[in-house]
Amino acid sequence: MGDNKLETILECMHLNKDQLKSVKDRLHIEMMKGLGKASHANARVKMYPTYVRSTPDGTERGDFLALDLGGSNFRVLYIKIGEKVEQFSEVYKLTKELMEGTGEKLFDYIAECLANFIGKQGLKDRALPLGFTFSFPCQQKGLASATLTMWTKGFKASGVEGKDVCVLLYEAVKRRGDILLDVIAVVNDTTGTLMSCAHAFPDCVVGLILGTGTNACYIEKLENVETWDGDTDPPKQVLINMEWGAFGDDGVLDDLRTEYDESIDKKTHNVGKQKFEKMISGMYLGELVRQILVKLAENHVLFDGKTTEALRNSWKFETANLSQIEGDTSPDYKVCRKLMKDHGLEITDQGCKIVKAVCAAVSSRAAQLAAAGIAAVACQVGKSDVTCGVDGSLYRKHPRFHDIMTATIKQLAPGVNVKFVLSEDGSGKGAALVAAVAHTLKSKTKA
Ligand code: GLC
Repeated sequence: MGDNKLETILECMHLNKDQLKSVKDRLHIEMMKGLGKASHANARVKMYPTYVRSTPDGTERGDFLALDLGGSNFRVLYIKIGEKVEQFSEVYKLTKELMEGTGEKLFDYIAECLANFIGKQGLKDRALPLGFTFSFPCQQKGLASATLTMWTKGFKASGVEGKDVCVLLYEAVKRRGDILLDVIAVVNDTTGTLMSCAHAFPDCVVGLILGTGTNACYIEKLENVETWDGDTDPPKQVLINMEWGAFGDDGVLDDLRTEYDESIDKKTHNVGKQKFEKMISGMYLGELVRQILVKLAENHVLFDGKTTEALRNSWKFETANLSQIEGDTSPDYKVCRKLMKDHGLEITDQGCKIVKAVCAAVSSRAAQLAAAGIAAVACQVGKSDVTCGVDGSLYRKHPRFHDIMTATIKQLAPGVNVKFVLSEDGSGKGAALVAAVAHTLKSKTKA
């Protein structure tokens, strides 16, 4: 039953060991470009220095606020760091209108949510130090200054690219005039993840996000960061926000990209951008699967050659569905059957097997590519044991992502033992910890 056709169609998703090794090597070259003074301007993997120089040492204390913008929701958090970390948080919906409207409206909304939260928590008169997790590519000039270089992940609010998001937040708060604001740090979610993980595991040196988007950060020696313009006091290191999602934007991955990757790219707000991310992260995997299912139906490998409006509807097949289908071990493919029914399609057991194989092909490629990325980072770190803090819905929910990544890294970086540790709320706790470390340093310098 069309097995050959199935194999032919899925073949393009398969990457062999040599190809993956080459992805690792190519990323390493891009990393060097991003860090180099002369090559940085043209580099696609930007390797932004974050101005975060130290991970927590456990002595950090205090009460903090954190904002978390970067996915489908917006969160405000109140975090108390003591012997233990306690946190209170509220999730606020982010509508498509806010993501795609004006920057002013978006920041007014953020300020409104903050005011609402501060009121509810009874914090109105305290200008608590705040960490702002803003998970988009930013050029930083200091810990509390971050200029958005370009929106990713479906955001396109106008008038924000090229601006310092910290200034935009202060302006929005000023327009309201009813709350106090003290932004200590703007943080990427990868940085938050690394910080939050290092709080529990001090040897953590890499942070990885596999969620709506994908990106990594790691601790680099100052001597390797030619773009560094901050002070050179010890510790002679700085966290680098790689923005690896943009890997391939100059065409260096084009030989591995498929017609499905091409077609997805064309349907996004950021055409030609974030090509690595579009092969890996949660925003795109479901759509990759959907496109392949349509192709299989058109080739009479699935659904007796039928497609429905629901199946032809772009972006309607979610990445969470992949995780559910792959995780379902029931003999009668309950999950797959139900999902296909929701798409108006009747499916046989053999059909379910095919759908599962498509999901597996797409998620395996994603996990292997992410692993090739981590292998490149681990080699750059240059230690035999590397702990990597990781967060994101894709990693958390997918039944095989972790195992595939671990197996692939073993192949690509045999001399390095990479340990993945699930990070606890990097976007909230991590941002507060960055603010806390900065605070602690400030008071130590004063003393
Ligand atoms: C996108 C953003 C990046 C973020 C990642 C994960 O790639 O550009 O800043 O870290 O998504 O959320």
